[in-house]
Order: sequence, then C-alpha cells, then structure tokens
Amino acid sequence: MVDFFMGKSAYIHTFGCQMNVHDTEKMTGILEEQGYSRADSPSNADLVIFNTCSIRQKAEQKFYSELGRMKSLKEKKPWMKIAVAGCIAQQEGKNILKRAPHVDFVFGTQNIHTLKNIASASFERVAVHVNPDLATTELPVKRNDGIRAWTTIMYGCDNFCSYCVVPYTRGRERSRPSDTIYAEVSELAGRGYKEITLLGQNVNSYRSDTDFPGLLRKLDRLGGIARVRFVTSHPKDLSDDLIRAMSDLASVCNHIHLPLQSGSDAVLKQMNRRYSLSDYMKKISHLRKYIPGIAITTDIIAGFPGETDEDHQLTVSALKQIEYDGIFAFKYSPRPFTKAAEMDGHVQDLLKADRLNEILMLQDAITFQKNEALVGTVQEILIEGESETNSEKLTGRTGSNKIVTLPKACSRKGAIIHVEITKSRRHSLEGTPVIT
Ligand code: SAH
Ligand code: SF4
Ligand code: F3S
Repeated sequence: MVDFFMGKSAYIHTFGCQMNVHDTEKMTGILEEQGYSRADSPSNADLVIFNTCSIRQKAEQKFYSELGRMKSLKEKKPWMKIAVAGCIAQQEGKNILKRAPHVDFVFGTQNIHTLKNIASASFERVAVHVNPDLATTELPVKRNDGIRAWTTIMYGCDNFCSYCVVPYTRGRERSRPSDTIYAEVSELAGRGYKEITLLGQNVNSYRSDTDFPGLLRKLDRLGGIARVRFVTSHPKDLSDDLIRAMSDLASVCNHIHLPLQSGSDAVLKQMNRRYSLSDYMKKISHLRKYIPGIAITTDIIAGFPGETDEDHQLTVSALKQIEYDGIFAFKYSPRPFTKAAEMDGHVQDLLKADRLNEILMLQDAITFQKNEALVGTVQEILIEGESETNSEKLTGRTGSNKIVTLPKACSRKGAIIHVEITKSRRHSLEGTPVIT
C-alpha cells in the first residue's frame, strides 16, 4: 500500500524532440511544487505521465505499446494514475480515453499549466483546449544537468510544411518577450550554467520587441553564458543579419541545423518549404564564408509522395555537394490532418527504405571523412560529464557540436578546455588536453 503521508511520486516517460524534453522539465517543476518526488520507474510511481510525440507513425506506435504495458501494472496498483501529455494528447484528446480506458488524464502541449491542479478536484480529465493567453504561461522548470540548459523562445509553428503535424500539435507561433528570456538566462548564468540552447520550431521567425539576431545580441551582452545554441532554423527565414550575428558574437556556437528535407525543387514545392535548392545553396555558401569552421547539419525525408528516382538522386547529389557534418534522415510517414497524407503517389515502403539507406550510407562516409579531417587540430570543448559508454572517460562537445571523449583524470564537468583531436570514430572524436 502507498502511504500518502510520505508524499507521492511521479514518473515521466518522454518521447520526441527537445521541446518535449524541456516540457518534461516544466512538468517536473510543477509536480515538485505539488510535493511529488521523482520515481525511477513506473512500478514504484503513484503517477505516470507519458509525454508523447506524433512526428512519425513509429513514435506513435512506440507510445501506444508502452501504454499497453501499463494496463497490467495498473491492475496490480489500482491507485496509480496514468496521464498522457504532449503532441499525441493534443492531437487525439479524448479519443485516447476510448482507446485506452486505463488512462486517467489527457492534457495537451498547451495545457501543461493545468498540472498545477492535479491534486485537486478541479483537475480536468481531458484538457486540450487552446487558450493563447495561457499557452505561454511562465512555468517553473526543474533542470537536472547544472551545465547545459534549454529555454523555449517561441511556441508553435505557422509554416504548415505539408508533411508535418507540428502546427496541429503545437498551435500557432508565439514568441516569448526578450526580457523574460534574458531574465531566465541571466538567472541560469548566476547558477553556473555554461550553455543555453534556445528552442523553437523556427527560431528565425522569432519576433517580440526584437528579432532573432537581436535576441542573440542581447544574450551575448549578458556575458555570463559561454555558449549559446539554437534549434531549429528554417532556411527560408535565415537572414544575412543572423549570419552576421553568428559571425560577430563570441557566445554563439559555430553550428547550424538547417533542414533541407529534399534536394529536388519539385518535391520542396510539394512540401511547401518555400525555398529552392539554389536559394538554400546560397545560404550555405554565406554561412561558410562568414563563419569559419561552421558545422552544418540537416534533416532529410526519403520517399515523400510523388518523389521519383530522379528527385531522390537530386537529394543524393545535394548531400554530396554540401557535405554536411551530420544528418537526420527519415522515411516519409503520413500524419493526421496534413496535406501530404492526402496526396497522390505515395511511395512503397520498401522503396522508401532503399532510398533512406542510400542516403544514410552516403552520409556515413561523409561524416567519417569530416571527422578524420579534424585529427591533429586543437578544439575548445565544454566537458559534459562522464561518458555514457565508458566510465573511465569524460565527454565534451566542440562549439561545432562534435562529441569528444578524453581520459577522466584530465578535467571535470563544466570546464571549458582545449584538446588536441587524436583519433576519429564514426560518431565521435578522441582528444587529449593541451596545456595553454
Ligand atoms: N521545426 C523543425 C523540425 C520539425 S520535426 C524544422 O522545421 O526543421 C523534425 C524533422 O522531422 C523534420 O525536419 C522532418 O525532416 C521530419 N519530419 C517531420 N514530419 C515528418 C513526416 N511526416 N515523415 C517523416 N519525417 C518527418
Ligand atoms: Fe513542421 Fe515545417 Fe513547422 Fe518545422 S517548419 S515544425 S517541419 S511545419
Ligand atoms: Fe516534438 Fe514530436 Fe511534438 S518532434 S513537437 S514532440 S510531434
């Protein structure tokens, strides 16, 4: 039996992107204020929250199979409450209760604040309504890392790329006032944080009392944060002024994630991306000209409806030409509400898999070559802590976002040091400190 006098505990299972990871930090912050402690697994939690992702079918299936597993646990522990939050919650609302009657609560991405009432009778069973005033309510955030932090600068997305569910799960674009962001970052700097990642679906369209380059300049003037990163940038909104700010500001890391999605103009048009390959290439050449050593990464979708072999080969040749530092590539997955799901010419799964495979193999070779080229160079890294795969080692990251491992005795978490790269591996580098 659970002794209620000892306080309740909660376990949150997070799927999806950094937005969701950060939303989990907000939920944890709220629950802590409500007196909840953190459980290390669903089996010893009084409350289990699934913070879900809907970006591709696979993410959705993974969640439903995890949720299915909770049924027998709940039979053993009938007092346990199960809540579904995040993008699937926002999208499906009360349908989730029909599909999985063992779920107690559903709350959407814009209703995280309702968690404040979880202990009281006013807690709603299904809270997915959209109230733009409440959707940006400032919430307490419980961060664990101590060195690196995320902060949301804008919510939602107005781009409606034809394949993407995010505008439906995260709602319209809203930017947080720059003073609020400044205050949060300055408080984090005071607590010893070294790196901040600014989050938004399209940070380039950030607009409050200033624009995105203006926000970067403001945070740089703060002086307390060594490294500022941001995700994600939409190529259509990447301005010369942003390139200038990245080039001028010491705190802004020399890495940009700039999703291309496809190398074919015809496919880009169908995707509603609103740039051509040649627009994109111009931006790449500016970035490389003004920000020496910049790392560029991207996202690619293989097998968008109507994609021909020629279209696919245009993507392959763009990858060869651009030589990204790294990519995320996915098979196209039809999503609810989206235009692309209704389009003709859906590509067979096996063909999508073949195309994806070709893309990934090509990029593997490029990434490896790029890493090889760094052997012998000196890089500045921020130590993030013990390596997950080897407790004898530390890992850190370069400004260009490459992972470097080094012997444990060399340094400590949170230090910023110079290392010489001694070896390259497929997805990381090895280094030894240089005495400066
Ligand atoms: N706002 C960001 C990222 C959104 S989701 C941006 O615009 O870049 C992250 C990536 O998931 C996208 O860049 C895209 O490559 C991929 N993605 C989104 N919807 C998808 C779908 N229906 N099928 C396959 N991949 C998808
Ligand atoms: Fe989705 Fe496009 Fe918005 Fe990114 S910019 S979240 S891909 S709709
Ligand atoms: Fe992120 Fe997935 Fe939602 S990628 S915005 S958690 S659909």
